[in-house]
Amino acid sequence: MTLHAPILDWYAEHNRDLPWRRPEATPWGILVSEIMLQQTPVVRVLPIWEDWLARWPTPEALAKEPPGEAVRHWGRLGYPRRALNLHACAKAITTEFAGTVPATYDELRTLPGIGDYTAAAVASFAYGARHAVLDTNVRRVLARAVRGEEFPPTATTAPERKLAESLIPPVDAPRWAVAVMELGALVCTARSPRCADCPVAARCQWLLTGKPAHDGPPRRG
Ligand code: ADE
Repeated sequence: MTLHAPILDWYAEHNRDLPWRRPEATPWGILVSEIMLQQTPVVRVLPIWEDWLARWPTPEALAKEPPGEAVRHWGRLGYPRRALNLHACAKAITTEFAGTVPATYDELRTLPGIGDYTAAAVASFAYGARHAVLDTNVRRVLARAVRGEEFPPTATTAPERKLAESLIPPVDAPRWAVAVMELGALVCTARSPRCADCPVAARCQWLLTGKPAHDGPPRRG
């Protein structure tokens, strides 16, 4: 039976109201959020994201600043190279894409510091593209629910990508992506998952087989 309806219904009821998920979020705001969220929890990202978007509402606004300003306003997000990458992104978007965040996965991949995940996330969340958005939360949910494994492989594999692609619904692909991501962030967590609250507990291969422990070195995500 399909995973879609229960996960989408769960998301409708339990999603966090985050500013980059609102309809008024711009592609630039979404790009900034995805870079900030890569290594930093949501609660720490929120105030810095608000400050950045108020200060630099467009790529051009940031591109006009010296790169050091981006680092100065990075707060305690950590990995400040990301601030420099965002500044370089702002410059590239301004000069090569006339100030508009590009809409396709391939164009997004040409931007500094934008890898597979971020390109797929921005194409999907900002422009509605049908892309497999494989962050660590999504990969863990699919590993458990479909493959019956506690954790996904260390790096994304071709079978994982194929599985994720096969699950993208014909409509509302971005909502599906963020719903699975949210389930992984709030319920199907790396440690002590809250299976009693899970909308797909009844069809989770990992739960149904007695939650076998991960075979191999300890894993974070
Ligand atoms: N919503 C959209 N992208 C997200 C992310 N990377 N982390 C948390 N919430 C998100």
